[in-house]
Amino acid sequence: MNTTLRENIDWVGAIDWNIRDFHGYDTERGSSYNAYLIRDEKTALIDTVKAPFTAELLRNVAALCELSQVDYVVCNHAELDHAGALPEVLRAMPRATLVCDKKCVAALGAHFDTSTWKIQTIADGDSLSLGRRTLRFVTTPMVHWPESMFTYVPEEKLLFSMDAFGQHYASGVRFDDEADLPAVMQEAKTYYANIGMPYAKPVLQCLDKLAGVELDTIAPSHGLIWRRHAAEIVAAYRDWAGRRCQPKVLVVYDTMWQSTETMAQAILEGAARPGVNASLIHVRRTNLTKIATEVLDAAAVAVGSPTLNRRMMPMIAAMLCYLDGLRPLGKAAVAFGSYGWGRGGPEDVNEALQRMQWDVFREPLRAQWRPTPEVLDECRRIGQELADRALNPPPLESGQ
Ligand code: FEO
Repeated sequence: MNTTLRENIDWVGAIDWNIRDFHGYDTERGSSYNAYLIRDEKTALIDTVKAPFTAELLRNVAALCELSQVDYVVCNHAELDHAGALPEVLRAMPRATLVCDKKCVAALGAHFDTSTWKIQTIADGDSLSLGRRTLRFVTTPMVHWPESMFTYVPEEKLLFSMDAFGQHYASGVRFDDEADLPAVMQEAKTYYANIGMPYAKPVLQCLDKLAGVELDTIAPSHGLIWRRHAAEIVAAYRDWAGRRCQPKVLVVYDTMWQSTETMAQAILEGAARPGVNASLIHVRRTNLTKIATEVLDAAAVAVGSPTLNRRMMPMIAAMLCYLDGLRPLGKAAVAFGSYGWGRGGPEDVNEALQRMQWDVFREPLRAQWRPTPEVLDECRRIGQELADRALNPPPLESGQ
């Protein structure tokens, strides 16, 4: 495997082929925890790995230099998939000084006994010379945690971007031009939707900070390294964080005895037309990770639930709870669903859609027991309206 980014700059991380559940995120293609070693007059390790992969990281570093010769360990992000190995790494590298910002010092202190660690605290814009190369630190709060930062090597136009631009993608190759690019882009989109989306505003601020910075290579903490398509992934992030929607209608539903499903199919029928990507998602047949990814760039969403015990069905509630946390804004939306002797399902959905500040443009559409032909006609009409709205979305508000 080619792991060399530049002469004496190498990937030394670990590939997690078997992970399928990353704190609830369905990682169907596994993941990787990327760490990088820069050998110069001084030697710096950029980030570490999840604790169970510590031995692999140390082996990869030891293949390139003596562990006792490492001068700095930079921590761009305190989350445990990147910092979990730190205690053992610092024990194995007695000369190394940990380099991070003061919020990171506090976060690491909450997770580990840091009392014996040598720590150099840096601030936004600070630089550290390694000899021929310089590390320049760019704080990026809330992309993903408060202490998150990038490390930039200006001499190489190389950015170590921590979670940003990453993908949960295990692979036998390390670079974007060695892999199936559409699959890598799809995983980057899934990663943004499920990790980055709540932080759209900080992501945009971070992209503004990068404007004017020469970027030949972006080396994230997960997945493949962008050396051929760096500009494309930055542009994609601008679209995603800018909440740019596609002419896309999603009809997401659960069903008990196919009444709500029949309504969902009629809405889809009304929405389907050339130029509109309309699709149907059964919430118990599709995982939440995929649903969030579909919602990211959908302009219009219909959510349906029958009434179960006076409430919406539990997986619809789980999905809406998850989406509420991810904060996808600016969707045209409608609730629908069936009921028998007591209402509750579509009403619960409607309330959740409004709480998310989506543009809920009408009252929930309900069917008692079975949808009548009139109700199904109304479903088709609503589908058409969702498609109209998806084709003519309102202008994006600046700073959204
Ligand atoms: Fe990959 Fe926010 O950690």
